[in-house]
Amino acid sequence: MSLLQCLTVATALILFLQTLSLVSSTVLSRADRITRLPGQPQVGFQQYSGYVTVDEKKQRALFYYLAEAETKPISKPLVLWLNGGPGCSSVGVGAFSENGPFRPKGSVLVKNQHSWNQEANMLYLETPVGVGFSYATESSSYEGVNDKITAKDNLVFLQKWFLKFPQYLNRSLFITGESYAGHYVPQLAQLMIQYNKQHNLFNLKGIAIGNPVMEFSTDFNSRAEYFWSHGLISDPTYKMFTSYCNYSRYVSEYYRGTVSSMCTKVMSQVSIETSRFVDKYDVTLDVCIPSVLSQSKRVNPQPQEMGETVDVCVEDETVNYLNRRDVQKALHARLVGTRKWSVCSNVLDYEVLDVEVPTINIVGTLVKAGVPVLVYSGDQDSVIPLTGSRTLVKRLAEELGLRTTVPYRVWFAGQQVGGWTQVYGNILAFATVRGAAHEVPFSQPARALVLFKAFLGGLPLPDEF
Ligand SMILES: *[C@@H]1O[C@H](CO)[C@@H](O)[C@H](O)[C@H]1NC(C)=O
Ligand SMILES: *[C@@H]1O[C@H](CO)[C@@H](O)[C@H](O)[C@H]1NC(C)=O
Repeated sequence: MSLLQCLTVATALILFLQTLSLVSSTVLSRADRITRLPGQPQVGFQQYSGYVTVDEKKQRALFYYLAEAETKPISKPLVLWLNGGPGCSSVGVGAFSENGPFRPKGSVLVKNQHSWNQEANMLYLETPVGVGFSYATESSSYEGVNDKITAKDNLVFLQKWFLKFPQYLNRSLFITGESYAGHYVPQLAQLMIQYNKQHNLFNLKGIAIGNPVMEFSTDFNSRAEYFWSHGLISDPTYKMFTSYCNYSRYVSEYYRGTVSSMCTKVMSQVSIETSRFVDKYDVTLDVCIPSVLSQSKRVNPQPQEMGETVDVCVEDETVNYLNRRDVQKALHARLVGTRKWSVCSNVLDYEVLDVEVPTINIVGTLVKAGVPVLVYSGDQDSVIPLTGSRTLVKRLAEELGLRTTVPYRVWFAGQQVGGWTQVYGNILAFATVRGAAHEVPFSQPARALVLFKAFLGGLPLPDEF
């Protein structure tokens, strides 16, 4: 029997026993229960964290953190959240800086008033191995990791995680994430659908991806117009950046170690004009963002000579917190083969050219399979700008023959415009989040929560207040 077959048999057995109410739902997960995180306020929900071994032979294990819903967890869906990079941590960035229940502040954790666990049971996964607390005992496991391996490991993770948490089997499941998770999320969802054809294990109800990389050239080449229209570059530089060397060509050459003199010239002019004192992940911020938000610096190669790798100010609350011994103990986390937890992996050697693999077509197959998709976009981000995402979604809708069901319009969060939205065929939605950075839940938490709630409920975004 293959591993997958074993797992299927085991899950089927648990499903069966569960229906007979023979398995106390918390038995297998009890060891992973977090009694209390150091410095956390009193809360009424449960937290769990620990490891799922995705490969026994090579001892490769993925680390997760589950924050159950604040109220009535049993009646709320399960939502997997993935950050990008590739190589950045969903626990450090997603859970502790974006949409999790707490944010570290000095030696304590403060409650996030817009935590997504108000609406769902939030599962954060550090993936692939080598990221955060996830590890492999053989360092060769960190080499040549790519999208395919990551998607497979994520699938195996979920299958085995359900063995620990049978109470979540067949729960409505959503997969969410941002940035390079524009690869991870559709790729995992596609594997689930394939797997479901035989075993019907995953009750997949939708995916949501924020400022996602879905198609390399459209996404990356929308940067030039974004810079120009926001006044970050001059007319002649815009012209060079759209004719002599566009951004996808530059990145493509950069990853192959063959940057042409033309691209070098164009990019250095672009860098000079945009200035390293402007945050490319939020062009309206005039101060630095925490270095924990450096995840997508992988998506965005910034060679030394361009002077862009400089993190002007480093605010490392999360890094400090997750590196505390007492915190690691409370989380049941181990550091294997590395001395420090870091936001983005220093040991992982990811196949960088996979960024060029399109995933918009996979999004299309998901839609065709009846899986609702939300693509959302923080509108202050120049790294994966809204214009590229909007173009890709619209093009996909046309290809699939989906007609507009919600015409382009504003949506509201409270009494303010939260952004703009358009929906195709009641299944494929695009939404911007006004005033939001690349990390939407970090920069516009209240608006992000409104968006998230509508997405889970399959409801249109509020069109009035
Ligand atoms: C899983 O949930 C679906 C509805 O979402 C339901 O039709 C199905 O019977 C459930 N399966 C099990 C094994 O509980
Ligand atoms: C970007 O540059 C490449 C290589 O020169 C070219 O093939 C591609 O069409 C360009 N894309 C855009 C959107 O200008």
